[in-house]
Amino acid sequence: MMRVNGEAVERRPRPGQCLRTFLREQGSFGVKKGCDAGDCGACTVHVDGVPVHSCIYPALRALGREITTIEGLGAGHPDGLHPLQRSFIEAQGFQCGFCTAGMIMTGAALDEEQRADLPRSLKGNICRCTGYRSIADAFAGVRHVERPEAHEPQVGRALPAPAARVVTGTEPFTLDTAPEGLLHMKLVRSPHPHAYIRSIDAGAALALPGVRAVLTYEDAPQGHYSSARHEHYADDPDDTRLLDRVVRFAGQRVAAVVAETVGAAERAVPLVRVDYEVLPAVHDAEAAMVPGAPRLHADKGSESRVADPVRNLAAEIHSEIGDVEAALTRAAVTYEETFSIHRVQHVHLETHASIAWVQDDGRLIVRTSSQVPFLTRDALCRLFELPRDQVRVLTPRVGGGFGAKQEMLTEDVVALAALRLRRHVSLELTREEEFTAATTRHPMKVSVRLGADREGSLGAIALRIVSDTGAYGNHGPGVLFHACGESLALYRCDNKRVDAYAVYTNTVPAGALRGYGLSQLFFAVDCAMDELARRLGLDPLEFRERNVVGPGDELISIEHGPGDVEIGSYGLDQCLKTVRAALSDASTLPAAEGEWQVGVGAAITMLDTTPPGGHFAHARIAERRDGGYLLYSGTPEFGNGTTTVHLQLAANALGVTADRIEIVGSDTDAVRHDTGAYGSTGTVVAGAAVLQAGERLAELQRQREDGGGGGASPEAELLVADGYCDGSKRSVAFNVHGFRVAVSSDTGEIRILLSVHAADAGTVINPMQCRSQIEGGVVQALGAAMYEHVDIDASGKVVTRVLREYHVPVMSDVPRTQVHFARTRDRVTGPLGAKPMSESPFNPVAPALANAVRDATAVRFTSLPLTRDRVYLGLARQAGIDAYSVSR
Ligand code: FES
Ligand code: FES
Repeated sequence: MMRVNGEAVERRPRPGQCLRTFLREQGSFGVKKGCDAGDCGACTVHVDGVPVHSCIYPALRALGREITTIEGLGAGHPDGLHPLQRSFIEAQGFQCGFCTAGMIMTGAALDEEQRADLPRSLKGNICRCTGYRSIADAFAGVRHVERPEAHEPQVGRALPAPAARVVTGTEPFTLDTAPEGLLHMKLVRSPHPHAYIRSIDAGAALALPGVRAVLTYEDAPQGHYSSARHEHYADDPDDTRLLDRVVRFAGQRVAAVVAETVGAAERAVPLVRVDYEVLPAVHDAEAAMVPGAPRLHADKGSESRVADPVRNLAAEIHSEIGDVEAALTRAAVTYEETFSIHRVQHVHLETHASIAWVQDDGRLIVRTSSQVPFLTRDALCRLFELPRDQVRVLTPRVGGGFGAKQEMLTEDVVALAALRLRRHVSLELTREEEFTAATTRHPMKVSVRLGADREGSLGAIALRIVSDTGAYGNHGPGVLFHACGESLALYRCDNKRVDAYAVYTNTVPAGALRGYGLSQLFFAVDCAMDELARRLGLDPLEFRERNVVGPGDELISIEHGPGDVEIGSYGLDQCLKTVRAALSDASTLPAAEGEWQVGVGAAITMLDTTPPGGHFAHARIAERRDGGYLLYSGTPEFGNGTTTVHLQLAANALGVTADRIEIVGSDTDAVRHDTGAYGSTGTVVAGAAVLQAGERLAELQRQREDGGGGGASPEAELLVADGYCDGSKRSVAFNVHGFRVAVSSDTGEIRILLSVHAADAGTVINPMQCRSQIEGGVVQALGAAMYEHVDIDASGKVVTRVLREYHVPVMSDVPRTQVHFARTRDRVTGPLGAKPMSESPFNPVAPALANAVRDATAVRFTSLPLTRDRVYLGLARQAGIDAYSVSR
């Protein structure tokens, strides 16, 4: 027997069971799973008062001990909250909240000395969202949240997220439920990068007790689709089958085993016998375009919208404005270089997960961790030929996404099983599957050619981009289009050319990741601009100031003539001034000394405020009998803070405090349509719909009062109003990041002495949340710039399989970033002049870091990440040292 939160638990754990799964089976859903390997800390509980990672702690060892989970931590404290739980609420030390229980459980066991050294004490706890500042503030007792006060504007204030339950572990995520008779799915995955399946023998697997089905290509719908979800279905090529007979990367789904327990499903997976005919494979994007290379999608016709199956192209773009070659010939100074941007992973702490079931009335329900429930519903309808009213998709709180959940990676296969078996079926990807079989950032090679005259006026930009989309084209065209768009439009220049290719290879598919192509392109373009400025003898920031677009300029990109994006507000000048001032004010920082070389660098980026072609949101606000309101919004909350912003906008319009409104959302039954939480549209598009609904309801209330109806009395008819936004008007947001760094010529270590970020976010609806989005984006980008990388071996297989091999930044890795906002109000797009700020802070970080290292060392690094080894070798090469013999 063990005691859990003071209660005796008589049930005995199964042999080999870890404490995490045992506790979740008792209903302690606050014990989360981020890795199953002891790396992330999300599963932390106390055993006799000592924090342990319960995923690697044998449950049998807990017999006779006292276990405390997050749900029991506050017992005995006033209002049922441990002081640290209260501090996390007051500092809002969370975004998605998936790490929060583990973070608090570790923190609650620290003594004074350990609390004084948090970076060391919290090294076993990963947060992917916050950048750790708000977590450190929670430990320090800093209060960030404000109380909503009546008769004060509700926007522009640090109102708290309506998610205080995350600190007690009681905010439900997708798998925090245990429906009766739940079946569990595990996937058989291909060991080969390219193969044809001759046959599958599931007999031995099906004979295993508890196994209920093995689904293969014979069970899957014939149709092709894309796992990427966009408002416009045709944006992505239809190159994917739910379970295909051809596998195109090592890790692709081959079969789905469904069993009564996770253990039975896991045991059955290796018993599924698959006879493969191995096919030739190609793992390099340049090689894949060469005639004679193995073709991945030769079987696809024009209806699939694969741009060129013969050359393995998912998409290509060719465009020229002016005459680039003539301008380069005329230029007084030119710069030409090829930059290489690597494969990184989102590492949202909650992995992809879904549960599907069929109601008695035949309706298919899917509960899922998704950024796009409506688009997923539509995809399932198309795939299974069901009418819209026969499918409902709902998303509880989502434990991070960063673009990876703008993808249908689990919903289709659990729906297939639920429709077949008429039982609840769940699938949770493991952390290893996230690395080997989910999606990554598109690795790119970007060749940049620039030319300018002596005065520093930019005359030509030419880009050649080769983007590796992996085995499938999900997001391949969109990322390519977006990457070219803003990186070219940011600069005033008469001669621009782009030749860009999204190329299929037999590797894990790439997909949407924070920045959506811009982090790759701006690394190349901004580093090249920095280098061109140095050749001209100009200050790099001043050179950019001379050549970036200004207020009133047309934005000219890959399309001839102005597109549909305009500069609805302009804060880039303010951002540049802020960062320049911060970098110059380095009087208190160390200068170069000994092995350490010191330098500064900055980078600027621009983001269109909504995706092209429309992004739609419907919102509804209804009066309640108790005088409060119900707000229906379709946008999922995955840590980006949209629920808080929506409450603030609605409250502002209605003239009430935000805590009078309850939000109901991210359910296809809640509103008519919502394209989803991507492209940083939660504030700008869905927020505009919410504001409009609030304003309409306020107007109806005025009319009722003018008509003598008074307020919403128990007898009065309750008023309801709707709001819509189609995201058709588009503006731009700007970000500037600056670093002061010290680089060790002895070891290649980069130390960040100063990190400063200035953002042009228009009207900032919630400064606390917006600042935290920027801090989190900067830290995620620093991880990608300095050490994160997904490794692929010579056969095309992903070999990065656990978090400890990947190195997500922990608290001790990251600097505190100064965050500043430009004072602007956008006239084009968002509610009350707001602009988006979720993904864009990621984009200028890597080029700013590379520019600072260049300033410090005179070495231009053209490949990411800037690992210590790579920097060391680069510096040694510059110094003419045989690095190999030195390192020995
Ligand atoms: S789930 Fe236990 S440490 Fe990650
Ligand atoms: S809030 Fe920490 S992982 Fe999302």
